[in-house]
Amino acid sequence: TKKPVIAIDGFSSTGKSSISKIIAKKLGLIHMDTGALYRGVTFFALQHCLNEDKNINIEKLISSLPYIKLEFQDIDNELQLFLNGKNIDREIRFPQVSDNVSQVAKEAEIRNFLLETQRNIAKKGGIIMDGRDIGTVVLPNADYKFFMTASQDERAKRRFLELELAGEKTDVETVKQNLISRDKIDSEREVSPLKQAHDAILIDNTNINKEQTIDLILSYIKKF
Ligand code: C5P
Repeated sequence: TKKPVIAIDGFSSTGKSSISKIIAKKLGLIHMDTGALYRGVTFFALQHCLNEDKNINIEKLISSLPYIKLEFQDIDNELQLFLNGKNIDREIRFPQVSDNVSQVAKEAEIRNFLLETQRNIAKKGGIIMDGRDIGTVVLPNADYKFFMTASQDERAKRRFLELELAGEKTDVETVKQNLISRDKIDSEREVSPLKQAHDAILIDNTNINKEQTIDLILSYIKKF
């Protein structure tokens, strides 16, 4: 039978991407981290569309969209993000990008610009896509929809350890403030706000580890 299309949405640092990646591998599906696209646009803006006060000039960014070519390339079985031919997969995780991405992601023109890229990749089926509005807007007809959440403290702790491991100098409180502010902007924006689709299964992993979360999600997916 046909390979499924799976949408995984939820709050930042609930493990959406790393969990989706593992599930994709287990089930033989493609994994696409849609947050990377918003981060890619933000990375471009930080290089080319700043005001004198070093804040992103959203108008300039919107008029520059035709000059932004984002694509995923398969590097060792992992989709890595390229901006105008340059691999930026590492750079898009930098804190400066995390701090600015939600401002960029709330603009309708920018969301529209990325919508087609996302839907085109999903057309072939057999994909697991993670983000904020996949089940609600990008792929409303997905075969399975999950919505992931966990307590703020637990999420801050996880993200902090991840950044520390990557050699970033930061502290839990700073990380927590970034999460809170992103969650707020993402949930309150007018276009495609972060919310659970009415037909999505809620996965709260505050008290379960990564392996248990993966097993829980897999328990809902029928053999294909
Ligand atoms: O998933 P990640 O944390 O990398 O996403 C970064 C940001 O991109 C989110 O905080 C959100 O503002 C935006 N985003 C979005 N819609 C998606 C995926 C990400 O608005 N589908």
